[in-house]
Amino acid sequence: MTISRWSQSQLHDSGWVRRMFMEGVRLRAEFGDDAVADLSLGQPLEVDAPIAEAFRRASQERFPGRFGYMPNLGYLDVRERAAEDVDLPGITVDSIAMTPGAAAAICIAIRTFVDPGEDIIGAAPFFAEYRLYCETAAARFIPVAVGDDLRLDLEAFASALSPRTAAVILNSPCNPSGHVLDAGELSAVAELLRHHNARHDRRVLLIVDEVYRRVIYPPHQRVEPLEFYEHTVLARSFSKDLGVAGERLGYMVLHPSMVTAETHLGLSQSFRALGFVNAPATAQRALLQLHSWDVDVAPALERRNLVMDRVRAAGLEAAEPQGGLYLWLVSPWADTLALIDELARRRVLLTPGIAFGVPSHMRLCFSAAPEKLDMGLQALEELVRERVSA
Ligand SMILES: Cc1ncc(COP(=O)(O)O)c(C=O)c1O
Repeated sequence: MTISRWSQSQLHDSGWVRRMFMEGVRLRAEFGDDAVADLSLGQPLEVDAPIAEAFRRASQERFPGRFGYMPNLGYLDVRERAAEDVDLPGITVDSIAMTPGAAAAICIAIRTFVDPGEDIIGAAPFFAEYRLYCETAAARFIPVAVGDDLRLDLEAFASALSPRTAAVILNSPCNPSGHVLDAGELSAVAELLRHHNARHDRRVLLIVDEVYRRVIYPPHQRVEPLEFYEHTVLARSFSKDLGVAGERLGYMVLHPSMVTAETHLGLSQSFRALGFVNAPATAQRALLQLHSWDVDVAPALERRNLVMDRVRAAGLEAAEPQGGLYLWLVSPWADTLALIDELARRRVLLTPGIAFGVPSHMRLCFSAAPEKLDMGLQALEELVRERVSA
């Protein structure tokens, strides 16, 4: 039995993040954990004790049907709490669907609102999995390069729009660029879409992926996408901020104008069609055990500052991340893949920018422990020095 042609092509084209992860597994098995700096995968920081305790208490909660199926959109009391978390007039429990992470929220939104053969426009660099999410729904992912300042290039966006456009996906803070969308960008996108909708009698969906929304570094601030454009869906997650990526928990927020009985039926159907059925029960219950879902960004900020100081001192080019857990570096070698290979030989793993649609760059995840960051940065500094003196 061979895997499908589609699976083969995906392994070839966009499997870089996983490929680096597997390389990390191999290197750790051969040389031991301490000898490898895996800065390739977006692992969250270690989970705090109150969060682990919330999961422990949730696992002991009992009520009739506790281990059975539930409504596809999740527990009502958890959805109510998520609606409070959104904290916007007009957002009620009806706008919320609990999902197995933001990944599922995005896939469910696409399956529910986009038809096969339609286009979904995104900004490059983009989270590598977007291509997979789109192709799974037989939609076409169209990346549009951002400007040199990492802000959306609105002219390029406007020319990518066509009668086939069904959705736009934006990510703020962006993985991998660290850019946080501002009000100017969001209002300009909203204006473009409204104009496009009027011309083509459509309602293009705007999906805003907010996985890192609680990891924004001052003075930057989150801007509320729901205030700019009606046909908006937010995809949120607890993977990175609470640090529970393996528990698969997030939620979708529908703009109030999208809340109808038909939308709810459509979403429920997509939960089932994609095989998610519902978000994990214990993880949902754990959310109710927490007094607050807020997190302290200080530990992530400290690591961002540490890596930023080091790359600046080494003369490397990288914009300071405004949010998220990644440094988006211009490759100091013309051949980025050769540099990635050379780093791997030194047991340091970074992800090549080609995974995010931009071959000239590479991504360093700074949520790793400071000693691993030090090891990775040292190897990078050495390779830059060797090239300079060569
Ligand atoms: C930008 C972005 N979107 C979505 C996801 C998926 O997150 P989740 O674990 O919530 O499914 C990730 C995970 O790394 C991400 O970086």
